[in-house]
Amino acid sequence: VTETPGSKDQALVADSFAFAFDIDGVLVRGGRAIPEAVEAMKVLNGDNKYGIKIPYIFLTNGGGKSEAERCGDLSRQLEVEIAPAQFICGHTPMSEMASKHNTVLVVGGEGEKCRTVAQSYGFKDVVTPGDIIKTDSATTPFRKLTPEELKNSKERDFSNVVIEAIFVFADSRDWAGDLQIILDLAMSKGGRIGTISETLDEGPPIYFSHNDVVWSAAHENVRLGMGALRGIVEYTFQTVTKGKTLKTHAFGKPQISTFEFATRLLKRWRKNEHNLNSPPNTVYFVGDTPESDIRGTNLFNEHAENDWYSILVKTGVYQEGTEPAYKPRVTVDTVLDAVNHGIEREM
Ligand code: G3P
Ligand code: MG
Repeated sequence: VTETPGSKDQALVADSFAFAFDIDGVLVRGGRAIPEAVEAMKVLNGDNKYGIKIPYIFLTNGGGKSEAERCGDLSRQLEVEIAPAQFICGHTPMSEMASKHNTVLVVGGEGEKCRTVAQSYGFKDVVTPGDIIKTDSATTPFRKLTPEELKNSKERDFSNVVIEAIFVFADSRDWAGDLQIILDLAMSKGGRIGTISETLDEGPPIYFSHNDVVWSAAHENVRLGMGALRGIVEYTFQTVTKGKTLKTHAFGKPQISTFEFATRLLKRWRKNEHNLNSPPNTVYFVGDTPESDIRGTNLFNEHAENDWYSILVKTGVYQEGTEPAYKPRVTVDTVLDAVNHGIEREM
């Protein structure tokens, strides 16, 4: 524990450990806070028997809004101020690819939100499925754009446009239409809309912001997520091309690069917010999905300069009584137990 005179809070701050939290199934379900999560935030902010503040960040595979908007939602849900500087969502690391491509297709999310997010990341020319459907409504026979979508979508001459990459930013709101358009491009001559490649291997690269097949929402049972769409895209490509393989890419947990991104964020956050200059010995990662949270944390722990300690909770995807596919260092009931476990282990 260190006294940090230069920090904004002037309080005792834990310098040897930090927390990183998954969101869905750990802190929030279906837009509502899990009650213990509100309490856990208070504990982290000094309401504990040692009177210390503990640095923490958030690392969710979710997305579909700007980091600032998402933090606004989370601040209200968890009754504590949360800053974009302590937050990563599935598509945040995609920002590092903005300068690599000129025209890209951005898929998923509500209305125009993901186009706006992509533009804010610096993507120069962002096409949406709505633009393609507005330009040629025969693209998706059963999908008609709503008046709102018609207003926002941009009709354009695609004959000289090359879609250089496809980014699925957030969950699709129209799986069939988006599947058709992704597949058309995967089979196209180098990303030219309306063409079909003879070799079927020159489509643009396809990036998903994460690979969760299921996730924990308001329903009592898990719901289908972006990883399911990814599987359907690959399966359908193989079927339609009579056996060719489509290799797509995923960001998010459990990718090591996502945890590296999180490490850089945590370093900046601890320095700027808490005036801590050396890395913590231990980062406690609290998640509900063995395949992404626990797998990623354990894998990253093999490479990381510090100890990444995986904690599995029972409030989301993982179901008590089942054997998790990836083993956490510890399993607890809720995120509040996870925070208390970390503190007791340290103090
Ligand atoms: O779409 C969101 C979801 O798949 C997972 O979010 O917060 O559990 O990583 P989270
Ligand atoms: Mg989760």
